Amino acid sequence: MSRIGANSSKYDALGYNCWLGYHKLDNSRLIKEYVKWCKNIIRSEDSDVINTALDELKNGIHGLLDINPIISVEPVMKAYLSIGTFSENDTLDALLETEEKEETGEEGFIIKLAETDEESILIIAGKTEKGLLYGVFSFIRAIQTQNNLENIFGIEKPANQLRILNHWDNLDGSIERGYAGKSIFFNNNKVIRKSDRIRDYARLLASMGINGTVINNVNVLKFETRLITSAYLPDVARLADLFREYGIRLYLSINFASPMELGGLPTADPLDEGVREWWKKKIEEIYSYIPDFGGFLVKADSENRPGPFTYNRNHADGANMLAKALKGHSGIVIWRCFVYNCMQDWRDYSVDRAKAAYDNFMPLDGKFDENVLLQIKNGPMDFQVREPVSTLFGGLRETNQVMEFQITQEYTGQQKHLCWLVPMWKEILDFDTYAKGKNTFVKRIVNGSVFENKYSGIAGVANIGDEANWTGFQLAQANLYGFGRLAWNPDLTSEQITEEWVRRTYSNNSEVVNIISEMLLSSWKIYESYTSPLGIGWMVNPNHHFGPNVDGYEYDKWGTYHRADLRGIGVDRTSASGTGYAGQYNKEVEEGYQDAGTCPEELLLFFHHIPYNYKLKSGETLIQYIYNSHFKGVEQAIDLKNKWLSLKGMVGEELFNHVKGRLEGQIEYSKEWRDVINTYFFRKTGIDDEQGRKIY
Ligand code: GCU
Repeated sequence: MSRIGANSSKYDALGYNCWLGYHKLDNSRLIKEYVKWCKNIIRSEDSDVINTALDELKNGIHGLLDINPIISVEPVMKAYLSIGTFSENDTLDALLETEEKEETGEEGFIIKLAETDEESILIIAGKTEKGLLYGVFSFIRAIQTQNNLENIFGIEKPANQLRILNHWDNLDGSIERGYAGKSIFFNNNKVIRKSDRIRDYARLLASMGINGTVINNVNVLKFETRLITSAYLPDVARLADLFREYGIRLYLSINFASPMELGGLPTADPLDEGVREWWKKKIEEIYSYIPDFGGFLVKADSENRPGPFTYNRNHADGANMLAKALKGHSGIVIWRCFVYNCMQDWRDYSVDRAKAAYDNFMPLDGKFDENVLLQIKNGPMDFQVREPVSTLFGGLRETNQVMEFQITQEYTGQQKHLCWLVPMWKEILDFDTYAKGKNTFVKRIVNGSVFENKYSGIAGVANIGDEANWTGFQLAQANLYGFGRLAWNPDLTSEQITEEWVRRTYSNNSEVVNIISEMLLSSWKIYESYTSPLGIGWMVNPNHHFGPNVDGYEYDKWGTYHRADLRGIGVDRTSASGTGYAGQYNKEVEEGYQDAGTCPEELLLFFHHIPYNYKLKSGETLIQYIYNSHFKGVEQAIDLKNKWLSLKGMVGEELFNHVKGRLEGQIEYSKEWRDVINTYFFRKTGIDDEQGRKIY
């Protein structure tokens, strides 16, 4: 019996199936072409993941082509699909070249045609069952987007080894920075036992090639600490079982002070023998429940979380202690670099939060065990709408690194504003750090190839919850999809990803594809234009971070982080007269940032304190630019809605109304941003808008 999609038909109209809602294609020429191969599927192996792959294949073929393939061990037709792992399956092994097999790697796959006089075989094969599963999803994607099959013949493998989601879910069911309902894993301090929704989620993740997930919040507060005790581990193990069927390993966030909280020890000092022994036993216990447990994600000495600093130890002492206990089980430690002093006095202009991660971790480069990875947020601050790339990328040379993106839209509109993040992530991944000369792109550091790291990859803070469409705003599904696709292949373009997502989620109709693609592709810059200008960041209400509030950043009670006064705004981060942050970059990058004339304008206020009458490249003064971009942003938000309205009748009615509602809300929010920001600067400077528009 197929285990797919218990909720799928119930919520399909609301977007529950995301990009896996298969509807019959209407191109009869292509259907004929695909059907030729899909009437008979040969599979001779049997395992959970292979069964998953087979279920997915049958389900996809049935939905898209409206046929029920015959599954057999021997072919019953002249043309057929043969699926399996060439490491286990001799027939497939014999059909493939040695070089092909070597090149496929652990998680890659081969799709190819083998033709003899009698038969024509379309092979989907991996070395491992995971590779096969990804191959099956790729095959389905090709059919669903009406691609010619020849285009997908060949070998494909993931660029990044770890492709992992971080859930900030709490045991009580709430989600930190969650904008789509409650947790799908936890409720009322228990692990949720109903598995349909979780299995459906695992499918979504596997269909993009995600291979790991951390199910609980990085802020492991007192109660959450108990997730690694026998009270919870049997239930956590059931989640791991579900994910395993889709080739996904489960990881947990831990509280560094667990030996004290759970074990009653007097210390959590990483060099204390008793503490080491406690972790060793704890880790053995976890593996007794979850034999393929991935490892720990750790937020330590950050925003009031405990860590090694209390004992005068450093991050390497803390991470290596855990790593040693995990190593024998092939587990890893993902240690976060989001470490800064949240109690800093922002009136002291010599202290710069942007420098903190680098200052904390650069001195430890090369001091971490081989199964430790440092997880680094994309920028030096905290997932703002625009930040430069973290200086640790291109700084660290002897340490395994993971990129951390935030898919959930904390500072980027909380799934109430349309803000497609892929173009931002692309800019970051394509950024040249010059760490080993020209073309040392972030994406090549993150995939481990520049410094030949043993472990490496990309993590994303998940944006899903238990709402029927998973992400609250249905169009925010595109962020999850885009994250997964980039984690698999960072060379895909934003345009390719939008097109794929729209075709899979909505339809292959070219008007629908063009309009929704245009909306997504323009949305990040639109959001940026009416929120905080030119890289300055924040300007949001305290704590919940939604809506404009120029002096609202909660850790800076003096409202000085932006350095705005009556003459200018922006933080001087140059080496000559400022905090010196710019000097943390490699020389070629640094040079561009040190001078306001060469600094990319979108980051001008991040790096420089600029007078309001400074002339930008467009000829506008800085103050006029602020006014203009905020007026224009609102017009563009209105335009987004008008574009959507033109799709009436071309997309399902429920989704049409849902998206329309969100875009209407966005227009109102954008007006509030415009008015609050423009008024603030008008009052500060007393400078009128050149065009005489009304500023409240
Ligand atoms: C941000 C966010 C917090 C989160 C933190 C982190 O500051 O607002 O909710 O805990 O990042 O990444 O650890």
